[in-house]
Amino acid sequence: SWTPAAFVDTTVAELQKKIGDDKVVLGLSGGVDSTVAAILLHKAIGKNLYCIFVNNGLLRKDEFSSVLEQYKGMGLNVKGVDSSARFLDALKGLSDPEEKRKAIGNAFIEVFDDEATSITDVTYLAQGTIYPDVIESVSVNGPSVTIKSHHNVGGLPDFMKLKIVEPLRMLFKDEVRRVGKQMGIDPLLLGRHPFPGPGLAIRILGDITAEKVQILQEVDAIFIEGLRKWDLYDKVWQAGAILLPVNSVGVMGDERTYEKVVALRAVESTDGMTADWVNLPYEFLQETSNHIINRVKGVNRVVYDISSKPPATIEWE
Ligand code: XMP
Repeated sequence: SWTPAAFVDTTVAELQKKIGDDKVVLGLSGGVDSTVAAILLHKAIGKNLYCIFVNNGLLRKDEFSSVLEQYKGMGLNVKGVDSSARFLDALKGLSDPEEKRKAIGNAFIEVFDDEATSITDVTYLAQGTIYPDVIESVSVNGPSVTIKSHHNVGGLPDFMKLKIVEPLRMLFKDEVRRVGKQMGIDPLLLGRHPFPGPGLAIRILGDITAEKVQILQEVDAIFIEGLRKWDLYDKVWQAGAILLPVNSVGVMGDERTYEKVVALRAVESTDGMTADWVNLPYEFLQETSNHIINRVKGVNRVVYDISSKPPATIEWE
């Protein structure tokens, strides 16, 4: 029968045989799949694995620096690339959800290509593809990227010509987590909620500005920390906050305010294909709403999303 220990042993041996002394490049996302793939490859080929972790400026609050430190602590040969400004620039003026996704995907390809091709003599591109990604046409969590037309004119970006290695191709998510645990990866990292590749850009309805990103990061951090404090985090499949393109009237002291509305979303799901909203305790929602409105400048109203998928989706865009 399948065990994580046996999987690690056979996969490491297979990777060593296949890759030999060649170099491998891998894009880390901070998520479970790419991290487990990286640790497996690191076990197999050590310093010949070159990891790249791109900050698109749309991650959760402090996530880039904390996850980068965590990766270094695991012994990975990882380069953090802060491209926030570049992504923000690519998103300027865009409001359409698919246009935002496309702009982010293209910017990612450009940044990753620059970094990957600066490593001399790299042979393989490793990916954290898991079995559901293979069978479904749309990846749930993987970086969904669309190749820009100018790349197509001259052929594929260079890194896409590399040979592919996908050590998790035959695994389901729960098996990936068990393999990660077997290799000693921090349970907090392994238990992280899924987070979309385009990040907060698809949770800011309408156009993206640095100020909106910062507001949403603060709101999201209060929500997620609250879920952890109330021991609700692991009972929820995915949670996050959405910044609405709406101002509403409020009152603070003697002053009338006219500020942003945020929505909170928490869902139960097994695979993201269907989802139910979570019946979070009213006391938790009350405390979280108070914390958000009192602490985050620019927000004066919090609502809770009680829509299931289908017919709604998990993300709002
Ligand atoms: P929806 O909103 O379609 O989301 O119910 C289902 C799952 O997919 C994630 N998601 C994405 N992940 N790139 C990604 O990598 C995307 O463009 C994207 N859109 C949605 C979403 O967070 C949820 O886990």
